[in-house]
Amino acid sequence: MSLTRVLFVAAAATVGLGVALADQPFSSELDARKGQFKMLAFNIGPLVGMAQGNIEYDAATAQMAADNIVALASLHQTRLWPAGSDNESIDNTRALPAIWENSEDFAAMFDDLGSAARDMQAAAGTDLNALRGQLRALGGACSACHEAYRQPE
Ligand code: HEC
Repeated sequence: MSLTRVLFVAAAATVGLGVALADQPFSSELDARKGQFKMLAFNIGPLVGMAQGNIEYDAATAQMAADNIVALASLHQTRLWPAGSDNESIDNTRALPAIWENSEDFAAMFDDLGSAARDMQAAAGTDLNALRGQLRALGGACSACHEAYRQPE
């Protein structure tokens, strides 16, 4: 292959990649909703760590994590879930089409997360036993929705 041809192929590949990225449908919605879930996971992390005894219980840290989960569970969801952003229509998402077929149930599960988060908010800063007492309900709100509406890896 001549040098010119190599450069041409490389340039075409670069342009092709640029187009592919620009063409990802709903890229900002996917970034935002995955970011929201990453923030939820980041904040439930210390609560799970303390409950399991891997991190020493610290009331202030537990309270901040629980407060953040309440704040995250309060975000309006509508714009994050545009029709056509399911995993059968586009790449880079694990959101099942069932979300749009059962949108009221999906919204109710997000509300359940909010209730469990508020219960945790009332408990997390009290003591380790109180935190432990609410973790099953909070974690259960995450996994109930994942089982129904998220493609397993
Ligand atoms: C109402 C439904 C629902 C609830 C409640 C829920 N999730 Fe999810 N979660 C999803 C869906 C759907 C996806 C897939 C999103 C996508 O790929 O577009 C997801 C994706 C994720 C991801 C992967 C994000 C990524 O980078 O791809 C993590 C981590 C996660 N959730 C953690 C949590 C945690 C922790 C909780 C509870 C504190 C929680 N979720 C509660 C529905 C939910």
